[in-house]
Amino acid sequence: MKKLAVIVLAAGQGTRMRSKLAKVLHPVCGRPMALYAADLAEALAGGRVAVVVGHQAEKVKDLLADRKVELVVQARQLGTGHAVTQAQSVFQGRAGNAWSGLRFVILSGDTPLLTEATVRGLLAAHERERATVSMLTAHLDRPAGYGRIVRGRDGAVWKIIEDKDASPSERRLTEVNAGMYVVEGEFLFPALAALKPANVQKEYYLTDIVEAAIRQGKKVTAYITSHPVEALGINTRAELAEAERVLRGRIRQRLMDAGATFLAPETSFVDAGVKIGRDSVIHPHVTLEGRTVIGEDCVVRSHSRLVESVLADGVTVLDGCVIEGSRLEGGCRVGPFAHLRPGTIVGRNARVGNFVELKKTELGEGAKANHLSYLGDARIGRRVNVGAGTITCNYDGVNKHQTVIGDDVFIGSDVSLVAPVKVGKGAMIAAGSVVTQDVAAEALALARARQVVKPGWVKGWREKAKKAHSPSKEKR
Ligand code: UD1
Ligand code: MG
Repeated sequence: MKKLAVIVLAAGQGTRMRSKLAKVLHPVCGRPMALYAADLAEALAGGRVAVVVGHQAEKVKDLLADRKVELVVQARQLGTGHAVTQAQSVFQGRAGNAWSGLRFVILSGDTPLLTEATVRGLLAAHERERATVSMLTAHLDRPAGYGRIVRGRDGAVWKIIEDKDASPSERRLTEVNAGMYVVEGEFLFPALAALKPANVQKEYYLTDIVEAAIRQGKKVTAYITSHPVEALGINTRAELAEAERVLRGRIRQRLMDAGATFLAPETSFVDAGVKIGRDSVIHPHVTLEGRTVIGEDCVVRSHSRLVESVLADGVTVLDGCVIEGSRLEGGCRVGPFAHLRPGTIVGRNARVGNFVELKKTELGEGAKANHLSYLGDARIGRRVNVGAGTITCNYDGVNKHQTVIGDDVFIGSDVSLVAPVKVGKGAMIAAGSVVTQDVAAEALALARARQVVKPGWVKGWREKAKKAHSPSKEKR
């Protein structure tokens, strides 16, 4: 088989999105659309991939910076045919015409549902039929907006007609062009050079090479996919939402196939980069974002959102938690209603309870912060008990400071730890204390006003208060 090269078209603005952001940068399942085509291109022809960029080229270049792809700029977006022409220089080789010996796969940056298996199917058909041009087509119930495949009575392909250029009868055709092609290099670039922008949009249409090939007596193959959803091209926000829905379904399916349970799969949002271990259970309405990794035998209850976080085995996240950039070690339990901010580590078998916020804080193995706390910039030892309402005062208005608490410390309720401050191993802090000085190991720290009790005081006070509140006074 001939050597493959791939050209990805990603220069367009995507006017119909009505967005400030270039279309191919819009995320689908948490990943910019262009990455789906880039992944596919690399899988097919790593080393021989060109991506045509244009609109917001710098941002697209940044996105693809660590990829094995050549980027070419299409300064003005004069159409898909013009875009492919820009990539010719990438495949010149030493003699200047290396492209003529290559077989090109052309992908659009706006069709993220296309799978490698389908492209392989198209390549096999191309090979089998000894075709010069092959394209992927699909039968759609609502073909509006797509280029239509026009066939003769004998079923042979004649041409592709764009929606905007089509006659009413052509618009009734339901077989559409998916925007994905296999073309022999020796035909492709000369054919592109001969394109004319003789259409409603005054653009150089890549699709016109089909008619050109037939005129030259070359073989053209239309490969009808049995998965029409893969043809979905994203041109509008509604199509973006549809692609998101389909891809999210695929992600959940993959995770379920690998042994995760989703109690109500269609209600959970899981990004493409998420991993879930066997026998973990995801309750309804859970959001898992970025490269979150969940170990085995974990439970994530409803309305929790995990972002770029790592859960070891046997972790339980109860309802309503927000967990970002955090690491949760084996057997720990978090929530309900906890907020773990970036840089948090919850140790093995530790507990974080309701209305507790942690930021850049390490909570040691078996430690507990069960109720109503803010713990920021803190290192908390093993088996420490953090009493209800305890707060680290980590910010002095200018700088952030550390709180360090040794193993086996007992902190009573409603304690303020004014950082920087250290509490030694095994110490005890009395409830209601404001701790401003370091506490030695095994010491008891009390930092609150002593209680005063005045026996019978209330009775006398109440009588005086009643006299002062006489009704005659009120009338005046
Ligand atoms: C294109 C096809 C149409 C097909 C549909 C499938 C043409 C003329 N039409 O239409 O037959 O049914 O895809 O989704 O090819 N691009 C550039 N430079 C340009 C213009 C476009 O790089 O000058 C890129 C876009 O960024 C996009 C892709 O090419 O990724 C397709 O362009 P788009 O404008 O979306 O074409 P469609 O109207 O969808
Ligand atoms: Mg499109």
